[in-house]
Amino acid sequence: MNKLLAGSLVLVVVVVLMSWGDAAEGEAKVIANNRDWAEDFPEQYNSWKKTAESDEIVDMLKEKPQLVILWAGYGFSKDYNAPRGHYYALQSNRNTLRTGAPVDTKTGPMPTACWSCKSPDVVRVMQEEGELEYFTGKWAKYGDEISNTIGCADCHDSESAELRLSRPYLKRALEASGFDLAEATTDDMRSLVCAQCHSEYYFQPTEWTDGAGNKKIAKVVTFPWENGLTAEGMEEYYDAIDFKDWTHKISKTPMLKAQHPGYEIFKTGIHAKNGVSCADCHMPTAIQDGAEYTSHHVKNPMSDMKATCLGCHDSDGDREVLEAVVARKLERKEELMEITMNNLAKAHLEAGKAWELGATEAEMAGVLLDIRHGQWRWDYSIASHGSFFHAPEETLRLLGVANDKAQSARIKLAGILAKYGASGYVAPDFSTKEKAQKLAGVPLQELVDAKNKFRSGLLKKWKDKAIQDGDVDRKEQEGMSDNTSYN
Ligand code: HEC
Ligand code: HEC
Ligand code: HEC
Ligand code: HEC
Repeated sequence: MNKLLAGSLVLVVVVVLMSWGDAAEGEAKVIANNRDWAEDFPEQYNSWKKTAESDEIVDMLKEKPQLVILWAGYGFSKDYNAPRGHYYALQSNRNTLRTGAPVDTKTGPMPTACWSCKSPDVVRVMQEEGELEYFTGKWAKYGDEISNTIGCADCHDSESAELRLSRPYLKRALEASGFDLAEATTDDMRSLVCAQCHSEYYFQPTEWTDGAGNKKIAKVVTFPWENGLTAEGMEEYYDAIDFKDWTHKISKTPMLKAQHPGYEIFKTGIHAKNGVSCADCHMPTAIQDGAEYTSHHVKNPMSDMKATCLGCHDSDGDREVLEAVVARKLERKEELMEITMNNLAKAHLEAGKAWELGATEAEMAGVLLDIRHGQWRWDYSIASHGSFFHAPEETLRLLGVANDKAQSARIKLAGILAKYGASGYVAPDFSTKEKAQKLAGVPLQELVDAKNKFRSGLLKKWKDKAIQDGDVDRKEQEGMSDNTSYN
């Protein structure tokens, strides 16, 4: 492909101009508009578009009200839904109550970093403005810039169309963990493109000075991989820098929020150990007019087992056996997860009661450490959707240890509560989303009203501008549902 040649010529020139962490190192202009790829690659584009079929909102706070208690004081206690197709990533991000209701480019609550795993426009903006500028400021700063959902330029070079990592923070993390990217095989790349987003991260505050001499603070997406890609290694990393995502509203614990270490946990499982990549199951080979191509309809592989599982696990007879095996894996995880969440939630509420009765920091220190480390393991194990299948043993191990830590906190709390005259204290009922949000102090209706105002105001302006500027195709938006957990 002569585009490839053009790409490498540009590389030579631009490398000289490269500054710290420039995303699109030496590559030609990023093509962020997915439709601009459609003509050259119709099969890939059309199959990619089918990710629009997965548009249903499953309100996880309704399904598992314990979550509201576990995340009290943090955005996730407001709104948290099961993942949908890549086609909706940007919409989910704009619509969630977690991103709030900004009124101009300077209002939050979230930083720009929250766009990072939602759009190829992120790659374009990093290229145009530099990575540190991209990571500086509030989410709304780029509301009218980030307009295409997860697509081609997230995983492909815009010139050569080859697989490439568009996110510089993954490259840095791989280096820090001792992985040499130059040695990456195609099979590695078929998982690493996913690892750009389906990984654990935090926002690292980073001071920098821009070209005009202004001092700024960027919040840079950073993967905590220096001590290894394990829950224990990352915990050690966070503990060493005294990091917390937030202070728990009820128990006052300095908490960690696991994001979605899907890649990391997958790597511990039998498929990864056998060299199977994410794309083998989530992007199987398809055929159009006799020619093979890679299906870009990323979804739950169980809905298409012939193309996904049965190529390796041959014979048709295996289908039902495999289905039953996967279903049972899910049940096992659900059982242990439910027990663990209940114990963690009760530990938070009992700790809240202990504080109320006058328990001292010294008395509570051991309790809070148990809660921090227990909830980290629980969250790590299940925030990575599909982990019950990708790595069942690791998932169940983490849940087991998480539950042990929750129990250990509760045993300590029983002693403290007794000392303050509240032996036999029973935590209040958190069995519905409404009850749990009341306990966690979430003003749901207020948040929804503000959000709806944002959606019919500033958000509409962002969308209109993107269409007007030709940044996004109107046709692509037609017929797109606009589901939320709250309307
Ligand atoms: C640029 C970031 C990004 C990349 C790259 C990415 N994902 Fe995702 N993925 C997301 C986000 C964000 C969601 C949730 C979207 C939502 O809920 O609106 C998601 C959702 C999913 C889902 C749920 C789909 C459904 O219909 O329920 C699967 C499966 C998935 N991703 C697998 C993959 C695989 C496999 C790869 C690599 C081939 C990959 N993703 C690459 C960000 C990404
Ligand atoms: C989440 C990552 C991801 C996204 C998004 C993505 N691709 Fe791909 N693409 C892949 C993977 C993985 C392969 C398989 C590469 C291999 O095995 O060499 C692939 C293969 C391809 C190929 C090579 C031919 C083939 O079918 O195997 C083309 C062309 C391509 N993609 C075009 C596109 C276009 C166009 C879009 C946007 C509509 C897109 N891709 C979006 C990950 C992605
Ligand atoms: C051996 C096949 C296989 C491989 C390899 C694989 N997955 Fe999965 N994945 C599955 C299955 C099966 C499920 C769905 C299980 C269920 O919920 O029924 C799933 C579920 C998911 C989900 C959740 C989808 C949802 O809607 O809840 C995401 C996200 C995901 N996988 C991402 C990845 C990523 C990223 C990789 C690589 C790091 C990967 N998968 C590797 C088979 C695989
Ligand atoms: C690219 C090949 C490949 C694909 C695709 C694949 N597998 Fe596997 N699977 C393997 C290999 C290899 C093993 C390990 C076998 C061994 O060590 O005996 C394995 C093991 C398993 C096991 C036993 C290990 C465990 O975790 O219990 C199950 C169950 C399984 N696969 C289910 C599935 C399902 C379901 C799918 C489709 C979603 C799938 N596999 C897709 C290659 C594959």
